Amino acid sequence: MTVEKRKLEHIDIISTQNVSHDYNYWDDVDIVQRSMPEVNFDEIDTTTTFLGKKLKLPILISSMTGGHPDTKKINENLARGAAEAGIAMGVGSERAAILNKKMGDSYSVVTEYDVPFRIANVGAPQLIRQSRNALTDDEIEYAVRLIKANALAIHFNFVQELSQPEGDRNAKGIKNRVGKLSKKYKVIAKETGAGFSMQDALDFKQLGVSAIDTGGRSGTSFAAVESLRSRDKADEKKERVGRTFWNWGIPSPISLIYSNVELPLIASGGIRTGLDVFRGLAMGASLGGLASTFLKAALQSDKEVTNLISKLEVELKSAMMLTGCSNLRDIKKVRRVYRGRLIEWMNQI
Ligand SMILES: Cc1cc2nc3c(=O)[nH]c(=O)nc-3n(C[C@H](O)[C@H](O)[C@H](O)COP(=O)(O)O)c2cc1C
Repeated sequence: MTVEKRKLEHIDIISTQNVSHDYNYWDDVDIVQRSMPEVNFDEIDTTTTFLGKKLKLPILISSMTGGHPDTKKINENLARGAAEAGIAMGVGSERAAILNKKMGDSYSVVTEYDVPFRIANVGAPQLIRQSRNALTDDEIEYAVRLIKANALAIHFNFVQELSQPEGDRNAKGIKNRVGKLSKKYKVIAKETGAGFSMQDALDFKQLGVSAIDTGGRSGTSFAAVESLRSRDKADEKKERVGRTFWNWGIPSPISLIYSNVELPLIASGGIRTGLDVFRGLAMGASLGGLASTFLKAALQSDKEVTNLISKLEVELKSAMMLTGCSNLRDIKKVRRVYRGRLIEWMNQI
């Protein structure tokens, strides 16, 4: 199984089948509204600064793809939309381009657009020796330069690796490498749907990472994705592991709370609307990140990406108006009421 082929299988499965966690914890974050908000919708200011760069909206197109010629168009549609709207974007794991330079342009296409904040991406398991060598410093530098990145996301995805037919199983030594890379780059420690614990966040702070993308349980489940891939490959054991861990992980809003170690935070995992972005911001995030929602738009056209961003913007601004917020700083003061299954976690933090 080549890395390139795997990327296409992920896109196919995620865009055509239900691979979400069974519960979206963002729905358990209610917002106390204001009936007399004293804010004019058209005067609402959504601009922000993230790691030194200005964005027009606090939205991130989360890391997804690149690595196969067919993915170039997806990244191009996303980059055009991100540039037009002035939002941040990440590319998917760049290992495919590191292993095969011919795949480079499926990622570097994003540099043809004026995206205000670009995030390179490598996997934490690939930073150490597995059945093959760890990525070298030069290879990581190549990944960063390939998309002229403003930051480097290191993604943590062990639940996926363990459910994957060809997954990596070593984790010793990752901390050391993350610490070294954090001296050289603005590193964003990124979960991919299982969430970070408080200890993880404290470790990241100590290692010198620049931001945390909290990616918890509520949205795309990579154990689910790998379970379906394993089923197609008649790998019964892995199919079962993926099914067993389908709903594994720390709920996204809890991962956000655990990660509050005075670093910029990205709320992600199950963010589907501008209201969800607002909920994440109210709970302390600087940006809200969406992946699968953007994938579906990007598979259609660049126009669909632009449409989606403008819908997210209207929803975000509506929530701001309904809570009397005229800028993003005001959102931090908005009262939340937690309910449902989220309370079970809240009570035991
Ligand atoms: C098609 C697809 C491919 C992905 N590939 C990557 C990747 O290469 N690197 C990464 O850090 N995250 C990857 N992710 C994870 C997302 O960035 C995000 O953390 C996760 O999907 C949860 O967000 P969602 O619920 O909005 O989909 C991928 C997600 C999707 C949908």
